[in-house]
Amino acid sequence: MLKILCVCGARPNFMKIAPLVDAISRTPGSKPYLVHTGQHYDDKMSHLFFEELRIPRPDVNLEVGSGSQAVQTAEIMKRFEPVCIDQKPDWVVVVGDVNSTIACALVAVKLGVKVAHVEAGLRSFDRAMPEEINRVLTDAISDLLFVSEPSGVENLRREGVAPERVHFVGNVMIDALLKCRDRAAKSTILNTLELRSKGYAAVTLHRPSNVDGKETFGPILAALETIAQNMPVVFPMHPRTRHSLGEMGLSRRLAECTNLKLIEPLGYLDFMKLMADASVVLTDSGGVQEETTILGVPCLTLRANTERPITITLGTNRLTGTTTDGILRGYHEATSGASRELRAPELWDGRAAERIVSVIEAFVATKS
Ligand code: UD1
Ligand code: UDP
Repeated sequence: MLKILCVCGARPNFMKIAPLVDAISRTPGSKPYLVHTGQHYDDKMSHLFFEELRIPRPDVNLEVGSGSQAVQTAEIMKRFEPVCIDQKPDWVVVVGDVNSTIACALVAVKLGVKVAHVEAGLRSFDRAMPEEINRVLTDAISDLLFVSEPSGVENLRREGVAPERVHFVGNVMIDALLKCRDRAAKSTILNTLELRSKGYAAVTLHRPSNVDGKETFGPILAALETIAQNMPVVFPMHPRTRHSLGEMGLSRRLAECTNLKLIEPLGYLDFMKLMADASVVLTDSGGVQEETTILGVPCLTLRANTERPITITLGTNRLTGTTTDGILRGYHEATSGASRELRAPELWDGRAAERIVSVIEAFVATKS
């Protein structure tokens, strides 16, 4: 029996791990063991996703909680090592680019356990992002690299990675989206928030570079205030953002902006419905850029770069930067321009997790 230990820890991991755990469970001769690091722990950042995405209860929760980059990463490593020693998995599968990803990959590889990285090869080329460091390091030490878009294959080739480690398999996040789409369509979130389909903007922001300082958050907020004069703006707020707004003394300004609805983070199904019916989505999230591409909803990414360039070349995404003018220019283009002809990126077809399990099985078969 092939024992595949799957790691999740933060919100964007849950929709990626769900199809993987499912595909492993359905494959005769392999079984999953699920570790939640506890990097995210609020009900609305964690537990809710297990219910909605029908992920089995984790076999273990390391309950690491929040901390600085170094403290959180170190704490995950300290707590993951004994689990890995005790469970003796054949493989450890890590997803995405969060601290839980690099921490568990590093522990596993040093214990001699094979590591697979799902969503490998993405590069923003911006080393000021903690995620970029996590991506580069995780790719460097993983045995198998599962890539979601062609730019990832090209980046790894340029970095000199042996081609046999790299597998272009598609996007597990889209596996989850396609599977949950019908259930999400039934969400009543628009009624609850008194919104009209295609008559509002949805916002998510949580990158430290955007929300941790007044010098970037101030101009972003000014753009949201202007958009709110045009249409309702709904902002399910990430806990980091809520926390920093309080520290910066901006909470009152946001709360007083009429037509700007600040709400708690939403569950997966409600958020997917909120995105699908929005006139435009403004975000700095990685995953949201991909999901809007498949949903066909215009997306403005409030960043100077993206590690997911296919969402711009084939999808609905535009980079606006973080100045008020740049965001408003993007908003006018997205809401007034002719809609673009969309093509789903190659292999974003709901079967990425199955392909990943097949590659792991084939790798094991050739080595035994
Ligand atoms: C993390 C990831 C980021 C990802 C984001 C998704 C890293 C380096 N960052 O950023 O790549 O895009 O998750 O959401 O791994 N907090 C709570 N409750 C929670 C979780 C967090 O209140 O359940 C608050 C705490 O004040 C914490 C802060 O949010 O200090 C930041 O959490 P953390 O996990 O350190 O980073 P994120 O900004 O969430
Ligand atoms: N998401 C959600 N509720 C929200 C905001 C986001 O369910 O209120 C989902 C979103 O649809 C996507 C994932 O969370 O599936 C993205 O996670 P996040 O933006 O936290 O992280 P990133 O993708 O930037 O790493």
